[in-house]
Formats: sequence, C-alpha cells, structure tokens
Amino acid sequence: MPKNNLVILKLGGSVITDKKNNRKKINKNNLERISKEITEAMSKKGFSLIIVHGVGSYGHVIAKKFNLSNGYKNKHQIQAVAELYCDLKELNLEVIKTIKSRGMDVIPFQQSSAWKSHNKEISNPNLDVIKNYLALGFTPVLHGDLMTDDKLGFSVLSGDKIVYYLARKLKARRVILGTDIDGVFDADPNINKKAKLMKIVNSKNINNLLIGKSIAMDVTGGMSGKVKELLKLAELGIESEIINISKSNILKKSLCGQKDLGTIIKK
Ligand SMILES: Nc1ncnc2c1ncn2[C@@H]1O[C@H](COP(=O)(O)OP(=O)(O)OP(=O)(O)O)[C@@H](O)[C@H]1O
Ligand SMILES: [Mg+2]
Repeated sequence: MPKNNLVILKLGGSVITDKKNNRKKINKNNLERISKEITEAMSKKGFSLIIVHGVGSYGHVIAKKFNLSNGYKNKHQIQAVAELYCDLKELNLEVIKTIKSRGMDVIPFQQSSAWKSHNKEISNPNLDVIKNYLALGFTPVLHGDLMTDDKLGFSVLSGDKIVYYLARKLKARRVILGTDIDGVFDADPNINKKAKLMKIVNSKNINNLLIGKSIAMDVTGGMSGKVKELLKLAELGIESEIINISKSNILKKSLCGQKDLGTIIKK
C-alpha cells in the first residue's frame, strides 16, 4: 500500500476531559502538555497531521442518558442532541485554541455537517476539503460526533471509527491512538489487577484477550470498540499504535518515530 507522510493522531477523551468522574470538565494540564508535545515533534520531524479528539465526559454521559447511540427513539432525544452539539463545540473550541496557542495551524472540520452515516457507518464521505487543508499545510481537527443516519435517524460516531476511516482512505503513514492507559492488556485492568500489557495485538492473539469497555461511561465500546476498528485497519495492512498520553513525553517520542511505547495493532 502506498504511503505518504501523513500521521493520524487520536487524543483520547479519557485524557483531555475528566471522563472518569463523568464531569463535563476539560483536563487543561493534559491538553496544554499534549499541545506542546505535538508542536515540538512536528517542528522536529515535519509531517502532515490530522488530529481526531475523543469526547470523553462531553459526549458519552448525555449519549448514554438519552440512549442516543441506538438512533432516534422519541422526541425527547432531540433536545438532548441539540445540547450535545453545543457541548462538542465547546470542547472542540478549547482543543483548537489550546493547540493553536502553541503556534500550530489547526483548523476544525465537523464531519456531521459534511457527512452522514448509514447504520452507524460513514456513508457519503467527501475528503476533498480535508485534502485541500492538508495541502495548504493545515492540521485538520475532527472529533467523535453525532451524525444524521439514513437508517437510524442519527447515530454516534466514535473518534476511533473516524481514525479508521481517515487512515484507510488517506493511506496514513502512521496511526497513533493516545489514551489514558499504557496500551491493550490481556484482560480488563479495572477488573483483573494481574492483567499484562500486550506489545502486539493481531487477529491471531485477539481471541485470547479479555478486552473490556471502559471504567468511565463510553457508548462506543471503550477499549474493545477501539481495538475492533484498529484490527480492521490492520487487515488492510495499516498498522496502528495505542499509547498512554496521560504520561509526559510518550506522545512526543511516538510522534518522533519511537515504536515500543505501547501496543501495536498489526496483521
Ligand atoms: N484489556 C484492556 N486493556 C486496556 N484498557 C482496557 C481494557 N479493557 C478495558 N479497558 C479500559 O479502556 C479504557 C480506554 O478506553 P476509552 O474509550 O475510555 O478511552 P478513550 O478512547 O481515551 O476515550 P474516548 O472514547 O472518550 O475518546 C481504559 O481506561 C481502560 O479502563
Ligand atoms: Mg472510547
């Protein structure tokens, strides 16, 4: 598969928001440190970048409360959807502003205004705008979102699915998913304290792992949903990595090319 110099990076909602406490609050320390690490790595290594951020406590809580992930059920959900969009805008603006304050040319791209889904999968994507921004040297920033859905009325699209989609369509050189844990463990570390970190996850060893969702509220499958998307990517020959970006400098090292920092998902 032809490769370009594009890196796709997900900033987990578990790191940039106070997800564990279900509090609609941004983790400013993490966001500022992460922004600094990204900027330093980019000026050192010079690559194209797309950032996708998760929504953490800004999305999952309301989505769970109003059962938004299973599509339109009743009119009470509509008000919740409107509220959710406001919350996502608020989070996205803070992410954009913080990264921009470090001197990076970030640009927001809200895919729910441009794309739609069919039964929870992106269905009519046009990537021209993103490609144009990349060609001009911008870093597009997307996020987990609520889409209009041809079959379900609306559906929740995880940041992990967006990463899968963009990496596949744009043939990313590297795909890095930052979250609040060191990688994929052989069992849910919230339940099994003896769980061990896996260096590699692939279609052969996945069936021996007990991957859970999330200790926090997560309507898109937490770690299990993430790995599912990344294994689909691996089948296409695109490797990805899950790393812990709640710890200092892991992200910077990863963006600078280091590869043994978490779990690699490959064929
Ligand atoms: N086997 C496992 N290995 C690693 N983490 C696991 C495992 N099983 C469950 N988890 C949980 O998955 C969580 C990470 O997934 P989660 O979706 O919450 O993070 P995120 O992607 O950073 O957030 P967001 O979805 O808001 O962007 C970890 O905090 C951990 O509690
Ligand atoms: Mg998640």
